Amino acid sequence: MLKGKKIVLGVTGSIAAYKAAILLRLLVKEGAEVQVVMTPFAKEFITPLTLSTLSGRPVYCDFFNASDGAWNSHVELGLWADAMIVAPATASTLGKMANGIADNLLVTTYLSMKAPVFIAPAMDLDMYAHPSTQRNVEILKGYGNAIIEAASGELASHLNGKGRLEEPEKIVQVVKDFFCSSCDLKGRRVLVTAGPTYEKIDPVRFIGNYSSGKMGFAIACECASRGADVTLVAGPVSLPTPHPSINRIDVESANEMYDAAVGVFPTCDVAVLSAAVADYRPAVQANQKIKRTAADMTIELEANRDIAATLGSMKTDGQRLVGFALETNNAEANACEKLHKKNLDFIVLNSLEDKGAGFACDTNKITIIGKDGKSVYPLKSKKEVAKDIVSHMTKLFLLLLIMFLPVTANAEGEELEAKVVLNAGKVQGTNDEVFKQLETSINEFINGRKWTPNMYEEVERISCNFTFVVNSYSNDGTFDCSLMVQAVRPVFGSSYTSPLFKYEDKSIKFTYQAYDRLEFVEDNLDNNLTATIAFYVYLIIGMDMDTMGELGGTEFLNKALNIANNAQNLGDAGWRAGSSSNNRYSVIDDYMNGAMEPVRKLMYRYHRLGLDTMFKNATEGRKAITESLALLKKAYEDRSMAYFTKLFTEYKVDEIVNVYSKSTPGEGKEVAEILTSINPSLSSEWEKITKNNN
Ligand code: CTP
Repeated sequence: MLKGKKIVLGVTGSIAAYKAAILLRLLVKEGAEVQVVMTPFAKEFITPLTLSTLSGRPVYCDFFNASDGAWNSHVELGLWADAMIVAPATASTLGKMANGIADNLLVTTYLSMKAPVFIAPAMDLDMYAHPSTQRNVEILKGYGNAIIEAASGELASHLNGKGRLEEPEKIVQVVKDFFCSSCDLKGRRVLVTAGPTYEKIDPVRFIGNYSSGKMGFAIACECASRGADVTLVAGPVSLPTPHPSINRIDVESANEMYDAAVGVFPTCDVAVLSAAVADYRPAVQANQKIKRTAADMTIELEANRDIAATLGSMKTDGQRLVGFALETNNAEANACEKLHKKNLDFIVLNSLEDKGAGFACDTNKITIIGKDGKSVYPLKSKKEVAKDIVSHMTKLFLLLLIMFLPVTANAEGEELEAKVVLNAGKVQGTNDEVFKQLETSINEFINGRKWTPNMYEEVERISCNFTFVVNSYSNDGTFDCSLMVQAVRPVFGSSYTSPLFKYEDKSIKFTYQAYDRLEFVEDNLDNNLTATIAFYVYLIIGMDMDTMGELGGTEFLNKALNIANNAQNLGDAGWRAGSSSNNRYSVIDDYMNGAMEPVRKLMYRYHRLGLDTMFKNATEGRKAITESLALLKKAYEDRSMAYFTKLFTEYKVDEIVNVYSKSTPGEGKEVAEILTSINPSLSSEWEKITKNNN
């Protein structure tokens, strides 16, 4: 995953600097190109020769090479790198980085760095805990750097505590995860049970089994590296936590495992139950070691609770449950019975009849049995098997999203209650699965993202529709879609809604491959689809806020404007400024033009002072609407070609005619004149206003 990645490894003067050599080896092994930069003091702990030999590049320490005067350009390094890792980072370097004290090549390189920076501190426990260090760590986090927290354990000072450099394997894992291209479990919470359970007989004896926990640990690791938030409930095993982001709960008995799993499951999307849980425990656990007395002895056993069956009965529509079966005979029949009895979504069967499968070994041979059939896999390493199981699991999520989309989407949404429809249009038939997935991805993207820092109650969410129709599609994932965006706001004090925005975007060109997760990074508009959606979302939010307070949506409208300005190079005609035909650029360019400020002010008068008031006092409310339409006239006079003024009259026509159905003749006449001059093509509608009043 790090193949071809260019990494600057910054090494500072800590006892842990020797671990930089291990880290460097691992990075190189992963296929990364590594350029080492050391602080002068770091050379006291590890020689540049070691690091240059391992990296295959000269190590940089000084601003220039004293022998030939060659300049070591920190600026070039900042541009060259895909990532910078500072490990170990001493308290002194943290302080310098946090405060811009650029007195060595490492700090100047950091300050010039364009790529993400990972910082792994290492120092004595008191230094690490000191408020100044912690403040510097917070500052560095605030600058967007990733801090790989120091681990706890024995320190160079022989004291025990937090301050050890995190293990090089874990540092590499964090960096790999960052570059992980298939974080398809991002945002998902996964519970994994693993290992055996020990059921105490007395203080020195137990009933246990041969489970090593390797399979469950590999699954937990695979889920975590695919972005999931993993809780690993581990029985007594001697395995290290396989991924730094995993939350591990160590337990011993089936009862403890039951409590931990049942406690965590309600907040999880899926549970993978790979633990070999003892079915029985001694009915009595002796407090003292049992002495040999009679020739034979009997231990009475009582049943443990079944974790899988309990979670199966707790499972909601949105949750999934995966079980394991290790069988010695009648394998498939037994596994199928467990699948149904425990209400699992699929069960992973490994049969002890298969060589290389089951306990203790590093390989496994599995069959996945679901409600709709089975898949048989060849013998593989447990790591590879974990990938197969997790991939099978992610498919379940996709299915789930399609089945329960409205529920999931609305529950996660913040500002918007968006209904997303993707219509295959003329290209219907061959690629329906891809279109369905695209619809799912767009829905997740719009409704699952927090677009503003504000808190929204469910009733406050802005209702909108995003209706895509595919104009053309080719198998390489190239789409051209039209998009109808509609948004309404409630009329307070009534059960009516009022059109807030309506616009048909004739063509959006983008590429999408099945299962792509849609991402959007502000100011990095490399995806035209997400850029366009984000543009409309901010536009709608901004307009809604304009209706709540005069010019209240400026912050979000500026975001939409920024996207439109930055998207000029995306090669999509919809963004083109100054285009002869109106496009999405003209919409925002008009709306935010200084001459159009009266229209923005109109939004508040028309909706808040007008419509919202009408249901308490019709005359007052209508008066405010008439005043607001005078603002529309003003904007039209100042910028007569403004596209938005006309657009507004188009999507408001029915509402306006309705508002003036009971007005005074004078009022209606004035308004009808304004509207006819702005949009003469709707003159027959505007005439209704005058007729109504005569
Ligand atoms: N399991 C569990 N809690 C238990 C027993 C089993 O969660 N007390 C889970 C296991 O983690 C596994 C699945 O149930 O995912 C099947 O385990 P297995 O021991 O094969 O099932 P049992 O129902 O105990 O059947 P058997 O009679 O074969 O032991």
